[in-house]
Amino acid sequence: MTKHLITGVAGFIGSTLAETLLRSGLSVVGVDSLTDYYPVENKQMNLAALQEFSRFEYLNEDILAMSTELHQAVNDCSVIYHQAGQPGVRGSWSDGFDDYVERNVLATQKLLECIEDKPGTKFVYASSSSVYGNADSWPCTETAVPKPFSPYGVTKLAAEHLVTLYAENFGLNSVSLRYFTVYGPKQRPDMAFTRFINAAIHGDTITVYGDGEQIRDFTYVSDIVEANIRAGQTGGNGAIYNLSGGSHATVNEVLEILERVHGEPLKVERVAQQAGDVRRTGGDSTNARERLGWEPQVAIADGIARQYAWQKANQRTMG
Ligand code: UGA
Repeated sequence: MTKHLITGVAGFIGSTLAETLLRSGLSVVGVDSLTDYYPVENKQMNLAALQEFSRFEYLNEDILAMSTELHQAVNDCSVIYHQAGQPGVRGSWSDGFDDYVERNVLATQKLLECIEDKPGTKFVYASSSSVYGNADSWPCTETAVPKPFSPYGVTKLAAEHLVTLYAENFGLNSVSLRYFTVYGPKQRPDMAFTRFINAAIHGDTITVYGDGEQIRDFTYVSDIVEANIRAGQTGGNGAIYNLSGGSHATVNEVLEILERVHGEPLKVERVAQQAGDVRRTGGDSTNARERLGWEPQVAIADGIARQYAWQKANQRTMG
């Protein structure tokens, strides 16, 4: 039976994708090196849920340190979902940058070299809205000139360019998906919604960066998973699609929704805006709609309520 390879399988999106594929009866090979960017026990919990499926095979490996096992995994799989990477906008300055280059650029290049001579293999790359930076106008289409505003965005864009040029030079059957701020159950503990909800539940103070009027096109995780599955089915010769949830909101509007869900006033403090944070994201997903048949299903109020309920029922380490 054909298998699906997911890199970064223990992470937020990788593990959610893996669980969806496994539940639909498919076999998954997952690679993850369990980096300690956030508490490893959260990733181990994600993995434990996947290991209940006999059709799940886990390789506790760093892509950059793999050799024959990586070729073996790639040979065994018809679709590769490359979710692994060093995430987070605000930590990519200074000494942190090395990890971003290694895990986003070098690891992607190594994987691409492995697949370059396998035209039957489909490759889906987890790109990012951070490639746009502070765009001149919104919503951005995929043809807008990318101008990252953080070192993180530079590495995601560099890797995306690699994916596209392997398609153009070697016929790699690839799709890059530009995710817009993904949220939902199991979201990383450094991200806004996890931090805000955790603070609300424990009566702690929420920290807002800047005036809270920055806008994000928040996208629920099951919508991102659905787009990955569709992209893995259709493939594409270096195609790039925005995946924007269609629920753009300011951070202040997010807090209003959360306060209603929580049912009590939130404690909020405001600190300086963080370097690398863009003022606004917003994507035009017409291409994903027309070519992948993708339409986001979860509106933000519903999505926040779901993540809140999940965090109440599932205590995770915040780090
Ligand atoms: C997120 C992910 O972390 C990136 O990995 C991803 O590539 C990116 O989305 C993307 O869209 O491509 P970000 O938009 O910064 O980056 O997501 P959050 O951490 O959820 O932050 C959302 C907003 O909340 C930001 O404006 C941030 O400044 C603000 N925020 C975050 C706070 O005000 N307080 C916090 O404690 C955390």
